[in-house]
Amino acid sequence: MRKQKQTNDNHKYLIIIIINIFNSSFLLIITSKQNYHHCLPFTMSLSPPSLVTAAIAADLPIRQIPGSYGFPLLGPLSDRLDYFWFQKPESFFKNRMEKYKSTVFRTNVPPSFPFFVNVNPNVIAVLDVKSFSHLFDIDLVDKKDVLVGDFVPDVSFTGNMRVGVYQDPSEPQHSKVKGYIIDILKRSSGIWASELVSNLDVFWDNIESTVSKSSSASYLFPLQQFLFTFLCKVLAGADTSRDPKIAESGHAMLDRWLALQLLPITSIGILQPLEEIFLHSFAYPSFLVSGDYNNIYNFVKQQGKDTINRGEMGFGLTQEEAIHNLLFVLGFNSFGGFTIFLPSLIDAVAKDSALQEKLKKEARENGGSTLTFDSVKEMPLVQSVVYETLRMNPPVPLQFGRARKDFRLTSHDSVYDVKKGELLCGFQKLVMRDSLIFDEPDLFKPDRFTKEKGAQLLDYLYWSNGPQSGSPTLSNKQCAGKDVVTLTAALLVAHLFRRYDSITGDGSSITALQKSK
Ligand code: HEM
Repeated sequence: MRKQKQTNDNHKYLIIIIINIFNSSFLLIITSKQNYHHCLPFTMSLSPPSLVTAAIAADLPIRQIPGSYGFPLLGPLSDRLDYFWFQKPESFFKNRMEKYKSTVFRTNVPPSFPFFVNVNPNVIAVLDVKSFSHLFDIDLVDKKDVLVGDFVPDVSFTGNMRVGVYQDPSEPQHSKVKGYIIDILKRSSGIWASELVSNLDVFWDNIESTVSKSSSASYLFPLQQFLFTFLCKVLAGADTSRDPKIAESGHAMLDRWLALQLLPITSIGILQPLEEIFLHSFAYPSFLVSGDYNNIYNFVKQQGKDTINRGEMGFGLTQEEAIHNLLFVLGFNSFGGFTIFLPSLIDAVAKDSALQEKLKKEARENGGSTLTFDSVKEMPLVQSVVYETLRMNPPVPLQFGRARKDFRLTSHDSVYDVKKGELLCGFQKLVMRDSLIFDEPDLFKPDRFTKEKGAQLLDYLYWSNGPQSGSPTLSNKQCAGKDVVTLTAALLVAHLFRRYDSITGDGSSITALQKSK
């Protein structure tokens, strides 16, 4: 009983985390009416925003990186309290950017003090498109163990091994694992769209039935259940209906596993200072969720034999390496990423009835009678809405990279000296509102990424740790799922407007669905 209760509580926390991550993105849309480039020197050309305004490094002044790390222990603690409590992440970065009149500055980020003795909170924030893009240059930055900053959740969360997502391309294991994941995606491309559509039908049937009985359907759990079933099938080749326990609560097991890894760096909005004292002061041990992880491990090992075998035979991984890497990409990258991203997409379309009319027309007139990946290529507005949602609410807001050597980092207006070993930290929510690149950056413009000018902007859409016009390779750290993520989201929108004439709701619930006539 006690164990069950603890399990439920953990699950509840993760949902709060998810809602919180989502709400904080949303908060920025509402609150950031001001264009942050007012902090740049007035001599810079601020309007009209255009791609060509990015200045050439040779013309720019060399500036010392402003900001400081403060006194030992006190500086990091004070920054941590600002980050989680007094300011929240958006204002934390924005206030400092304005204070230092620079999109590049020194600060501390959580976790820190007292029980994170091996974690160095000192970072150089990079908050414009130009400085942020240094994070993609693997000659300049080392991506070893910096997925969520200097803090690394214990390897016992992932079968006592460092999975590929934490590895730098210079490590031989990285290309084996990334090659394996890219291969999985290639091999599943034949069933991806049809599996998606049939699982979406189950999801919407469920929501429709709840909405018909009560005035509102909260969709986070059904969405996660749909994602879990769908991702197990397309990524692991594992059918959840073969294991009732996993089918029923596999998504909740993943939630708890994710929550425990991410709690030290995530705000869940409980009463302060309780959150700082109990949730952000130490890392949680993995044994609390080892039962959940083992259940999913055993399920994938049993039901995903072909996929695991492919990792061993085709990519030289051991069976354990194949399973733990597959589980991480399935549970952390894919399940975690979509759980944050899709509610923000549904929110963006559900609150705009004029946009719905346009999407409905496009989704019904184009793309053939059966939805496939190719259908979406004929739906530019649907695709643009997906890109604009990723720009306004990048699901993974923070990215890190450690300087491999001393080098010169360029922002739009200055050049800075970075020393070997320093950690760069990009906060995408501000980077994606860079007014020198994006016209009216605080506005959600559904058609921003359409036509020729819109296509050029894909060079500056960075949600996948690389430009949307780029490609994930074995030698970079761009998200292996870059294309499949945007195609899946676009198919969800197209499917939605073939099935319904209109939808009303927000980022967590649906209040009305008008069936297609
Ligand atoms: C909405 C969903 C997703 C989001 C927001 C997302 C985002 C990201 C980001 C930001 C990174 C870079 C992290 C870093 O190193 O700084 C990344 C890496 C990665 N993602 Fe995704 N991802 C998503 C879905 C997927 C899917 C569906 C897959 C594959 C099935 C995938 C596979 C990977 C892999 C393998 C890496 C590591 C790349 C490497 O080590 O070179 N992701 N993802």
